[in-house]
Amino acid sequence: MTHEVRAVVARHKDAPVSVETVLVPDPGPGEALVRVQACGVCHTDLHYRQGAINDEFPFLLGHEAAGVVEAVGEGVTDVAPGDFVVLNWRAVCGKCRACRRGRPWYCFATHNAKQKMTLQDGTELSPALGIGAFAEKTLVAAGQCTKVAPAASAAAAGLLGCGVMAGFGAAVNTGAVGRGDCIAVIGCGGVGMAAVAGAKVAGAGRIIAVDVDDRKLKRAEQFGATDTVDSSRTDAVEAIRSLTGGVGADVVVDAVGRPETYEQAFYARDLAGTVVLVGVPAPEATVGLPLLDVFGRGGALKSSWYGDCLPSRDFPALIDLYLQGRFDLGDFVSETIGLHEVEAAFARMRRGDVLRSVVIL
Ligand SMILES: NC(=O)c1ccc[n+]([C@@H]2O[C@H](COP(=O)([O-])OP(=O)(O)OC[C@H]3O[C@@H](n4cnc5c(N)ncnc54)[C@H](O)[C@@H]3O)[C@@H](O)[C@H]2O)c1
Ligand SMILES: [Zn+2]
Ligand SMILES: [Zn+2]
Repeated sequence: MTHEVRAVVARHKDAPVSVETVLVPDPGPGEALVRVQACGVCHTDLHYRQGAINDEFPFLLGHEAAGVVEAVGEGVTDVAPGDFVVLNWRAVCGKCRACRRGRPWYCFATHNAKQKMTLQDGTELSPALGIGAFAEKTLVAAGQCTKVAPAASAAAAGLLGCGVMAGFGAAVNTGAVGRGDCIAVIGCGGVGMAAVAGAKVAGAGRIIAVDVDDRKLKRAEQFGATDTVDSSRTDAVEAIRSLTGGVGADVVVDAVGRPETYEQAFYARDLAGTVVLVGVPAPEATVGLPLLDVFGRGGALKSSWYGDCLPSRDFPALIDLYLQGRFDLGDFVSETIGLHEVEAAFARMRRGDVLRSVVIL
């Protein structure tokens, strides 16, 4: 059976998205059909719509989602119809070299559904990050479904599926920020704000939020920032150094991904500190750093794919922290919207009006 659902499609580079009828097949072996309940609007969806990820249009957008499993295909045993799940975009294979070496968060062969979702005329869709969840139902690999406590609100839980997990994990997993450490986070959108919140949960001593938008800095204080820097008015590197006794932060997270923010991150850390790049750079972006500074400043320059998370380990743990009131996941939801409002939500994201708009289905 094929399911006819309403879904948000980006047909052409830079063109406004539209709500279309999409055909979703029943799950085949290893696949799951999920009735989506909520899906956050992430900056990466906008990157897709702008053709900045690849040019495999048309895209079925949306990838920060929670919902209920409706049906599973042959051989699926980890999830069953009725399970409340958060979708993830890195379903690890367990067999590649990274998985076999015990580092599954680097898995080089992650799974997606094998069957294609299509437009009514049969045109195959490219689901954003292998998910495509601005849709009433979506088809994913069963491993992309992570069961979490059903008491969590779908709007909040879904955010773990991408931006919040990426930011939280950038600080805690990739940056390994710990008790008493000093961290600076450049760019406090949904991703950077989650790095701030993650650093608080991890017991960081000083949490410096940097943004060019004052509204984001005020929010960052509510999420646990101890200090804020408006880098539209102040030199971010100087400000971070002066807040840390002249030395710089132990960990600096770049949640913007522009050459200038990466350079700030590079110079705003203490000797032997860690830079974590979690913002996704534009294809044409390059950085030029004196190689002697790369050597002389030591430490680590890391990238964070999905916050180096392991969904099966991290999603249920963060949902538990949220349900215990120790992690303000619900506060990331700035507004709830309908499917037809995704284009307007992109505009609000660009203006910096929201942390996360969440589509409710
Ligand atoms: N690595 C991953 O796995 C992963 C996952 C999700 C999102 N991302 C990426 O993370 C980035 C942030 O996503 P988001 O959803 O939080 O976006 P967002 O648009 O909500 O937030 C971006 C923030 O950066 C601020 N900003 C912009 N330019 C700045 C500058 N020069 N200096 C300081 N702050 C600046 C903005 O004011 C805004 O607060 C995007 O590039 C997105 O694609 C990466
Ligand atoms: Zn693998
Ligand atoms: Zn995302």
